[in-house]
Amino acid sequence: MFEIKSQISKIKVDAESLIRSCENKNEIEQLRVRFLGKKGVVTALYKNLKDITPEQRPEVGDLINTLKDEVARELDCKQSFFLRESLRSRLVEEELDVTLPGKPVTLGRIHPITKVLQRVIDIFQALGFSVAEGPEIEKEYYNFDALNIPSHHPARDMQDTFFIDVGTLLRTHTSPVQIRVMENRKPPVRVIAPGRVYRNEAINARSYCLFHQVEGFYVDKHVTFADLKGILGHFSREMFGAKTAIRIRPSYFPFTEPSLECDVSCFLCSAKGCRVCKYTGWLEILGAGMIHPAVLKAGGFDPDEVQGYAFGMGIERTALLLYGINDIRLFFENDMRFLSQF
Ligand code: PHE
Repeated sequence: MFEIKSQISKIKVDAESLIRSCENKNEIEQLRVRFLGKKGVVTALYKNLKDITPEQRPEVGDLINTLKDEVARELDCKQSFFLRESLRSRLVEEELDVTLPGKPVTLGRIHPITKVLQRVIDIFQALGFSVAEGPEIEKEYYNFDALNIPSHHPARDMQDTFFIDVGTLLRTHTSPVQIRVMENRKPPVRVIAPGRVYRNEAINARSYCLFHQVEGFYVDKHVTFADLKGILGHFSREMFGAKTAIRIRPSYFPFTEPSLECDVSCFLCSAKGCRVCKYTGWLEILGAGMIHPAVLKAGGFDPDEVQGYAFGMGIERTALLLYGINDIRLFFENDMRFLSQF
């Protein structure tokens, strides 16, 4: 009896000092096993109960129970201390320092060509034109024949063509969309057709093997050259400023008759003459004309019933002028130093 009592108090003292000097959670677990586990020191005491007289058993049993509870409480207490410690250090680690400078977020930008294209589209959409698109890989028929350019016609040389195979090519202009739209619609049609075109040209600061065009055309009863002239003036003022004047020069395209080229007064020097307008005060911006009867016919329209005008402009050229850029290749190189300026 005396022996077991002193064993109990010794275990208590041992446990307390060992728990106190514990340095981490693992050590606590080891002690828990050592004292309270199945083969633990405290558990073993219960086995010794059988050597005690039945009268004394309840008292000793109580003492062991109390010891067990005390050791468990001490262990829990130390364990929660370690838990709080680790939480605190995590908090310190994860603390948000609101005084740190933020990481810059880089936003994408709209490509300058897309911007100019969108402006052109907006101007014509406001006038009731709808947007149509055609394929970049195009049939020779739509790119040439239907546009009144038969094979062997010298006009085929006006646009150096990338052929894919016999009868198929990369479209050299957006004019084939005229035919594709007419085939599927009835007049009146008022359409704007933006897109990429390809030409097998020497690459330099002025020309590239691909570029963008916007084609516009209007077919209806009684469409006249005056309508064309009116729309070109309106577009030019919207695009280049209210004071912009236009100049119309006779030209030649197989798919329009009469054909014209349209210049706008140089908005860089207010038409006084500068390097960009080559001291003429004028900038050439587009080709246009009254749609040739043969083209209306190819599209399935009756040229005795309806007339139309069409125009086509290069977007890169317009963007070069608007942004004061001197090399068309910059638009296709995707150099961030260039693109991030827009
Ligand atoms: N398709 C012509 C070109 O690429 C431009 C144009 C379009 C001219 C429509 C007149 C009418 O040069």
